[in-house]
Amino acid sequence: MNQLFRTLLFLPEQASSIASRIDHLHYVVISITMVGAFAFAAAIGWFNWRYREGAHRGRSRKPDEREGHTRGGISYKAEFVIWGGLLVLFFAFWVVGFRQYVTARTPPKNAMQIYVTGKQWMWTFAYPDGRGSKGVVYVPVKKPIELVMTSRDVIHSFFVPAFRLKQDVVPGRTTTLWFEVKEPGVYQVLCAEYCGTNHSHMRAEVVALSPADYAKYLDSSPPPSSEGKGETMAERGERLANKYGCFRCHTTDGTPHIGPTWAGDFGTRVLLKSGKKVEVDAAYITRSIMDPMVQVRAGFKPVMPTYQGLISSGEVGAIVEYIRSLQKPPPPGGTEPLPRGPLKVERPPGSAARKGGSQ
Ligand code: CUA
Repeated sequence: MNQLFRTLLFLPEQASSIASRIDHLHYVVISITMVGAFAFAAAIGWFNWRYREGAHRGRSRKPDEREGHTRGGISYKAEFVIWGGLLVLFFAFWVVGFRQYVTARTPPKNAMQIYVTGKQWMWTFAYPDGRGSKGVVYVPVKKPIELVMTSRDVIHSFFVPAFRLKQDVVPGRTTTLWFEVKEPGVYQVLCAEYCGTNHSHMRAEVVALSPADYAKYLDSSPPPSSEGKGETMAERGERLANKYGCFRCHTTDGTPHIGPTWAGDFGTRVLLKSGKKVEVDAAYITRSIMDPMVQVRAGFKPVMPTYQGLISSGEVGAIVEYIRSLQKPPPPGGTEPLPRGPLKVERPPGSAARKGGSQ
């Protein structure tokens, strides 16, 4: 059934853990709308024929025959069942869809972060261990990957058809997307927001490797920080926080100062002046750097200056990663440490990365 629908609708393979669930919702919606459209067309045809010119049919409505609970041939009970059923179907769609939305928007706690920057007209990737790559991102299969994304210029949209995922990438903001790839392979990334002359060439690839291939791959390109040159994203973030004067107001040892402390802040839910609660995540931190007056923390004065135009998107990512690194250590056994992504831009040797590799 899945295969049949997929062929009929020209859908690509279902490469992520969420793809088949999204497809099933798609199948249900398209089936209902097709059946509804055909029923509607049939009714139009029927009425056209029945009340055609010269048919001499009575065109006035019969008075209700209350005693028999009938009206034009259909009982009130039947009508109630039909309309009630349609209403239930309608709401069921939203309930299922909402649950899928929540799943698609909530990265698992053990997700591995990769920072993505869109710019005219390419995708660049930065890994917390200090590696970076352009146009291709290597990930292990069966591990949740969270993309923390922003744009350097205009709005782009990160779209992986095989994962059934698409997310706008906005300058001055951070958006996220997470996925888990099921099978090793190469999956195309497209830009799905018209962003200028070379929009259609703004492509990249997600290369999903088996755990063994991924380990081999990591060995073949150790992160720059492990060799004593280069720095991790968090180290870079700390250096930048110093450069931009963040520590004049924010501490990293838990002491409150002019601004909230960064120690153990990431991932917590905090109260804003407006009375709302938000989670301290990449999006919140980015917004606070760019638009500090919008989400002011309760108990603090709105005195933070904006860094819009002063700080680059990559630098924001590094500071986010630094604040993330100041989380309290996760409970033992709660998460497993993951190897971080690679630096090399070239394909791994052989065809191991290709779909249905030689292994
Ligand atoms: Cu970037 Cu279209």
